[in-house]
Amino acid sequence: MARTDNDSWEITESVGATALGVAASRAAETESENPLIRDPFARVFLDAAGDGVWNWFSAPKLPPELLESEPDLALQQKSMVNYMASRTAFFDSFFLDATTAGARQAVILAAGLDSRSWRLPWPDGTTVYELDQPRVLDFKAATLAEHGAQPACNRVAVPVYLRHDWPAALRQAGFDPGAPSAWSAEGLMPYLPAASQELLFERVQALTAIGSRVAVEALGPNFLDPEFRAKRRARMDRVRALLADTDPQREVPSTDELWYFEEREDVGDWFGRHGWDVTVTPSLELMAGYGRKAPEQAADQVPGNLFVAAQRTKA
Ligand SMILES: C[S@@+](CC[C@H](N)C(=O)[O-])C[C@H]1O[C@@H](n2cnc3c(N)ncnc32)[C@H](O)[C@@H]1O
Repeated sequence: MARTDNDSWEITESVGATALGVAASRAAETESENPLIRDPFARVFLDAAGDGVWNWFSAPKLPPELLESEPDLALQQKSMVNYMASRTAFFDSFFLDATTAGARQAVILAAGLDSRSWRLPWPDGTTVYELDQPRVLDFKAATLAEHGAQPACNRVAVPVYLRHDWPAALRQAGFDPGAPSAWSAEGLMPYLPAASQELLFERVQALTAIGSRVAVEALGPNFLDPEFRAKRRARMDRVRALLADTDPQREVPSTDELWYFEEREDVGDWFGRHGWDVTVTPSLELMAGYGRKAPEQAADQVPGNLFVAAQRTKA
């Protein structure tokens, strides 16, 4: 489904379904032999959403005809699950470190089916603001309430379109820009045009006190590389065609049609220029650090993203 300026979605469609894809990876990791992260709610979301293409992306049991035609697929999928597990662990540690250091406000931009409000041991008095599209947040809250789960913090849903005036909604929901806060943008950047990314950071800058922290999964240098892009597209088209053969009812969307391929300023440089101390960890390094080194033949199939963590030191 092509993007438009004010598009909106259910959890099972367009950008919404990508949140289910990430949940599928977290469910696969949680149910693996030696999980790096445990997200007991990921499977609950998948069960509530029903069968859909999201279940294919981390399916432990791929149809044999698919594996025959695309023998590397199992390794690719395992590498993606390892990538998502490492990414989840990175943002979990980020929030735990920030709240241990004293922040009592967390803001999760594009929260999707991130269940941190329910599963992390937040210190007493922490408020977690979750921003995403209204129907995504409604699905999440309704599914977990039905499951009997209670948030482990003061969770505040802020239904917004992140290209609109979300700071007003956040302040109205109780956020205090004068107190330190911790922010995450995980799995968001490719879904925003470059100008919206810039505006997003300007707004974060306007809402953060000194000492605040931010963590971003930033697009890596190969995101716009035409050769890399063509290879990824060809691989994806092959898998889509094979999946369509296996089940003609199923139309598999092409996720990169949801992305904005535009030049953007390097995220670490942006925060560095605006008075933040920055550390940047490339994805393969992050994964290796968590004991999830990507095998050589799958290394170029793992997103080449950069994990940026920053703390504001200057006004
Ligand atoms: C790939 S999912 C990532 C979800 C979550 N951060 C995670 O890692 O599990 C992308 C999320 O971004 C949200 N999103 C993307 N663009 C948005 C926008 N303009 N406004 C609100 N939400 C947006 C989608 O609804 C979806 O939940």
